[in-house]
Amino acid sequence: MQADLFGGTPAELVLAPQAKLLKGLALPYVPRLLAALEQIQHTAPFRHMVTPGGQAMSVALTNCGALGWTSDRHGYRYSALDPDTRQPWPPLPEVLLQLAQEAATRAGFANFVPDACLVNRYRPGARLSLHQDKDERDYSAPIVSVSLGIPATFVLGGLDRVGKTLRVPLAHGDVVVWGGADRLRYHGVLPVAQAEHPLLGAQRINLTLRKAG
Ligand code: SIN
Ligand code: FE2
Repeated sequence: MQADLFGGTPAELVLAPQAKLLKGLALPYVPRLLAALEQIQHTAPFRHMVTPGGQAMSVALTNCGALGWTSDRHGYRYSALDPDTRQPWPPLPEVLLQLAQEAATRAGFANFVPDACLVNRYRPGARLSLHQDKDERDYSAPIVSVSLGIPATFVLGGLDRVGKTLRVPLAHGDVVVWGGADRLRYHGVLPVAQAEHPLLGAQRINLTLRKAG
């Protein structure tokens, strides 16, 4: 397994002083993650939300946890209820709490307890333009981002929209963590290329764990 190449410790790449790529860290969690994903999308199906500018996002999304990230013509916000079903989002599964904690601790952020998980689904061609994660109340907690399925290129920029960006290839099982001085870095995902993943088919699933409330 990829995660065992370095004597049981997954390869860690430093992307910025407080941003790390943990290669393959999620691989041992995959069977439980896929089972959890089935449950989540059964209760809260993926949907294409509209941006405040009025455009449908190419990425489809859902959430789990006490709070879920939503977008509509009035703006971006966290909400305890799924606006489509008016029911609470499905709970954050234990497997995600465990993975988030392992990843955050390895990246230098001990005691991370997320209360929100945004689940993004990218079909080939879907992309996410450069943005900051800044709808959370407290920026002292990091962001933990788990990638499953077909590969993508993550773009990590600086604290303003202009300037140099780093292109980071992400594979199934990779986890990126950013926090502290890097918490508000701009980031995005380039249009995802056509590909097939043996477990997930032609899609990439990204789970972004945050402390939102
Ligand atoms: C996000 O910024 O919400 C998702 C990033 C990713 O899909 O890798
Ligand atoms: Fe983001």
